[in-house]
Amino acid sequence: MTRNRPLFGLASLGGLRRYRGLIALVVACVLVQTAAALAGPLVVRQIVGLVEPGAASAIGGLSLLLIAVYAVRSAAAFAVNHYSHIVAFRTCHDLRRAAYAHVQRLPPAWFADRPSGEVVSRVVKDTDEIEPLLADAVYGFVAAAVVAVGVLFVLFWLDPVLATVALLPLPAAVAFIVWQGRRVQPAFEAEATQFAEVQAEVQDNVGGMVEIQGFARERGVLAALARRSRALARRQIANRTLIARFDPAVDGATGISIALVIWAGGLRMASGAVGVEDLIAVLLYIAAVYQPLYVLVGAAESAQEGLTALRRIDALLAIRPEIADRPGAIDPRPVRGAIAFEGVGFAYGDRTPVLHDVSFAVAPGETVALVGATGAGKSTIAALLSRFHDVTGGRITLDGHDLRDLALGPLRESVARVSQDVFLFNATVREVIAMGRPDATDAEIEAAARAAEAHDFIAALPQGYATRVGKRGVRLSGGQKQRLSIARAILKDAPVLILDEATSAIDAATEARLQATLDRLMAGRTALVIAHRLSTVRRADRILVLDAGRIVEAGDHATLMARSGAYAALARTQLGAAA
Ligand SMILES: Nc1ncnc2c1ncn2[C@@H]1O[C@H](COP(=O)(O)OP(=O)(O)O)[C@@H](O)[C@H]1O
Ligand SMILES: [Mg+2]
Repeated sequence: MTRNRPLFGLASLGGLRRYRGLIALVVACVLVQTAAALAGPLVVRQIVGLVEPGAASAIGGLSLLLIAVYAVRSAAAFAVNHYSHIVAFRTCHDLRRAAYAHVQRLPPAWFADRPSGEVVSRVVKDTDEIEPLLADAVYGFVAAAVVAVGVLFVLFWLDPVLATVALLPLPAAVAFIVWQGRRVQPAFEAEATQFAEVQAEVQDNVGGMVEIQGFARERGVLAALARRSRALARRQIANRTLIARFDPAVDGATGISIALVIWAGGLRMASGAVGVEDLIAVLLYIAAVYQPLYVLVGAAESAQEGLTALRRIDALLAIRPEIADRPGAIDPRPVRGAIAFEGVGFAYGDRTPVLHDVSFAVAPGETVALVGATGAGKSTIAALLSRFHDVTGGRITLDGHDLRDLALGPLRESVARVSQDVFLFNATVREVIAMGRPDATDAEIEAAARAAEAHDFIAALPQGYATRVGKRGVRLSGGQKQRLSIARAILKDAPVLILDEATSAIDAATEARLQATLDRLMAGRTALVIAHRLSTVRRADRILVLDAGRIVEAGDHATLMARSGAYAALARTQLGAAA
């Protein structure tokens, strides 16, 4: 629906209005440039008309005027170029910012469904390709069009017959360009898609390079990428060929026009209808008539790439985040921490449901443990509680409010999550820990790290808390990352705590030391603990046993053990209980 409105993205920024001063300057310069371009041949005509003995001083003066005209024209051209680039690059920045800001609002499911390289391509490459469109194509075309209209007037004023002759090849050239031009846009759209695919594949491969190398799959992976890349190159060449066809059309039309004008001009001169100076002026103007076509053709590539990019950004901006604040969304703070799942069903996208009719309640301050085999749906329940996805059936409430009625920011600020796998950004240890509370003091950060049994290994890092971790920094082990994540949760001090196998990668001795901290952390807040060790689970007020997306048992450790059901079986096998 929005496909036909490639300017949607620009419009959403309030268009180019904020640059109206600069744009006015550019347009003024375009007009000056146009006037100078029109005046040039007229001055030449005057000079040629004066070519006879004794006219030397007048010719000298007119020649100086001609130089001045051309100087003004090139100064104006410089200004157009300069200021149009300023507007264009600033607009690129605006769009890049808007595109990225929009991406940040999209839910996890959206990212799960596409390679990150494709998203990067939209935000970085597509926004960049708009620059030539705005800077060159638009003004080039506007300038050329203004010149063309001016020239038409001058031509008909000079000699209507020669003017008509000069324009004879024009309709054919225009028709050809319009006809061929229709094929150009889809071709460039396909090129942009293919480019994004290549980028996505490279990005994926780079991310998984260790696996590729580990399985000695380099050759196969390279061949797959080369296939895509070759297809892209073929498409790019075909698209340039498509564009290149316009050149001969314009060239041919210009040549034919010049030949016709010389022929007809010769006849008109012989009959005394026009002078040689008129003929020269008309010839000089012919280029200006066909100039817009040249610009149309010359700019076609950047214009097409730019329009395609705008359309792609448009499509991105038009995606409504499925998970967003409702109008009048409620701020739940201060949160007491009463959680209820009421007949919750959930499926990822249109895949088979992973949760069925899940109902349970956690009272404020209560600790509930969730156990079950891998794939049972434990992490999904944790993710739903932060509203990373919306339930497909039933509802989840926090303090009695449906999560979908709550403002997303405050909701997530009220929930601290320590997850199975921790993603580390390129940031310092201090920044990683302070993620949930950027204004925390160094002392608070260190206290949290100590409580999370992380201080000692942090102190041993090259720059301590200022050490960069993540992709571009020091590598941390899984257990170290989990301890940073726990420190982060301690510092965040949110009323609802979710520990999703938070200590799975931490050795038993360290975990035993951490236990007191975790107990303190859970005390006084609502906690949902997904755990794999019986020692953690049995301390919970209540245990829920999840099997294939259904709660099959609930109760405390002793009760469930006595029942000798699913929990007792789990306790014996997975939770590693001897008792
Ligand atoms: N992002 C996702 N997209 C599609 N399916 C998923 C996604 N995450 C988990 N699943 C599926 O949902 C089911 C439950 O997964 P999960 O909640 O992670 O289980 P657990 O944490 O209990 O091991 C599994 O079948 C898993 O394959
Ligand atoms: Mg899990």
